[in-house]
Amino acid sequence: MQESPVVIITGASSGIGKQTALTLGARGYRVVLAARRLDRLEELAGQIRSEGGQALPLPLDISRVEQINDLVNAVRKEFGRIDILVNNAGAARHLWLDQYSLEADIQNLLQINLVGMIQLTRAVLPDLLAAGEGQIIHISSVASWVGIPTYSLYNASKFGGRGFMTSLRRELRGTGVVVSEIFPGSVDTDFAQDPQVSWKARTVTPAFALLSPQDVAETILRVIERRSTRVVVPWFMWLAILAEAHFPRLVGWVLSKYFYTKDGVRYTWRQRGK
Ligand SMILES: NC(=O)c1ccc[n+]([C@@H]2O[C@H](COP(=O)([O-])OP(=O)(O)OC[C@H]3O[C@@H](n4cnc5c(N)ncnc54)[C@H](OP(=O)(O)O)[C@@H]3O)[C@@H](O)[C@H]2O)c1
Repeated sequence: MQESPVVIITGASSGIGKQTALTLGARGYRVVLAARRLDRLEELAGQIRSEGGQALPLPLDISRVEQINDLVNAVRKEFGRIDILVNNAGAARHLWLDQYSLEADIQNLLQINLVGMIQLTRAVLPDLLAAGEGQIIHISSVASWVGIPTYSLYNASKFGGRGFMTSLRRELRGTGVVVSEIFPGSVDTDFAQDPQVSWKARTVTPAFALLSPQDVAETILRVIERRSTRVVVPWFMWLAILAEAHFPRLVGWVLSKYFYTKDGVRYTWRQRGK
């Protein structure tokens, strides 16, 4: 009998990563749960196993390269193979640029969202190439296309991630390894617990456009089954991406008009009348 694929999911302790682990675990994938909060991962692994799935919780601070190596070695030792990497771990703080600290904010955010993600991808690549198949998936964002005031660091990390994935996809052409990117709009997760972020996710995003972690997890499953390369969810967010590409000044005008006052104080179109 053919063994089921082994999927590493980073940031599996909450939100999109957690829901993806549950969804893939229920579909028979062997899921490796990676994040810093090991207690949460162990609880999640218990839940997946109680539903008949296979799960391996492993600690990972993606900003520490030795932990990246330890994770990959532990997966090789346990399963002897790696089929799919879901690069999902991420962090966000949305401030004016002069409010970010030079080290704690700027360095850490780029380290988690961009550098660590690249290092982990590099670390698993030999396994995928040796097998001549497999998939690298990046949970990117519409913010990898559209620049938003106060998102400068997050935008930098996500634009950078898209550049990396585009190059890698072309580099790996003909190897059998698929490079996939998912570009969600706003998702209702712990990301939104940061007061700066919840302002955006819960107030600015109209209810019909706000995704659940389940929506994104199902998209990830589809991307695996169809070996798709680029998916925007919800689909109509392509309009924002096209507008940014073709009418950037209009997009800038809309953002400044509806999201910010002249003196730089943030407010939203919904809060404006209050
Ligand atoms: N929510 C949105 O609106 C939205 C929209 C588009 C794209 N995304 C992307 O979706 C991904 C998942 O976000 P989410 O919404 O599910 O947020 P979330 O619930 O806050 O999850 C973030 C995950 O990343 C992990 N993480 C953070 N720092 C880490 C580190 N140094 N090392 C290892 N893991 C780390 C966290 O685990 P630990 O704290 O346990 O380490 C957590 O499991 C992110 O890449 C985000 O950019 C989110």
